[in-house]
Amino acid sequence: MNQPRITEICSIKKEAENIFSIAFDDPRDIKPGQFYMIWIPGVDEIPMSVSSITDTTKMITFRILGDATKALASLHTYDKIGIRGPYGNGFTIAGKSLLFVGGGTGVAMLAPAVEEALRKKIKTTVIIGTKTESEIFFDQRLHQQGAHVLITTDDGSRGIKGFASDLAKDILEKEQFDGVLTCGPEIMMKKLLTVCDHLNFQASLERYMKCAVGICGQCCIGEGMRVCVEGPVFDKQSLKKFFDFGIYTRDASGKKIKF
Ligand SMILES: Cc1cc2nc3c(=O)[nH]c(=O)nc-3n(C[C@H](O)[C@H](O)[C@H](O)COP(=O)(O)OP(=O)(O)OC[C@H]3O[C@@H](n4cnc5c(N)ncnc54)[C@H](O)[C@@H]3O)c2cc1C
Ligand code: FES
Repeated sequence: MNQPRITEICSIKKEAENIFSIAFDDPRDIKPGQFYMIWIPGVDEIPMSVSSITDTTKMITFRILGDATKALASLHTYDKIGIRGPYGNGFTIAGKSLLFVGGGTGVAMLAPAVEEALRKKIKTTVIIGTKTESEIFFDQRLHQQGAHVLITTDDGSRGIKGFASDLAKDILEKEQFDGVLTCGPEIMMKKLLTVCDHLNFQASLERYMKCAVGICGQCCIGEGMRVCVEGPVFDKQSLKKFFDFGIYTRDASGKKIKF
């Protein structure tokens, strides 16, 4: 499981400005919220959450940021990549009514969890928050399957002008939910946590990953919890204990990076 398996790309699609999805052959089971280490030969190996799950193929969806994501976006159908995993814990999807809050590319990893909720006949509301209209993706996909989809943009170019966390706060004051599941900028998730004290709250975190199997300690948060093993999804009780949650992360060398 810790050796990369070489797999073939089935399709590559542009989803939005600078955002691409790659589907590849992989018959192994993976849970919404779990992730792969994706090896791009000759370039790098990087963590990517699963963004769509079928029995035979899996998908990742990513924003182009640096060398590895740029190289991934330039690949073609039938090109080969290496995959390790699935890794991490994934979401627990239960209750009668759930609110999903995805900031930026966060909606990519929430999408399979939304789809599992819909399959379980859970009433599902999704807030997708981006800076601007050209960065919105998966809104149609989730709407067509029965989710109530709401959009916020920082510049007001589509949906409600403002932050996803502010809309979530408004909705939580008016409607009854059993749980909130979120992925996005850590500051957004920390804000959300403060208004979800009465709810089942799950947030998916990102930390710099090297081994992804709990050995190197690179991805630790709080008092030594490993995001690659105990996470990337953490519940309210754990998040409240993490002194660095929403405050700082660490780069590849271990240097603190303030949010
Ligand atoms: C569990 C997990 C799941 C993720 N899922 C997604 C996803 O579904 N979609 C998506 O767009 N992005 C996802 N990311 C972030 C993604 O891994 C980084 O954007 C990517 O590694 C950037 O690589 P790069 O070489 O293109 O950019 P670089 O220029 O090398 O890095 C840009 C930034 O990306 C982050 N990064 C780089 N390498 C790593 C690494 N090995 N581990 C963690 N962070 C790194 C750092 O914050 C860095 O500053 C996930 C990260 C984690 C930890
Ligand atoms: S990445 Fe090595 S312990 Fe998590």
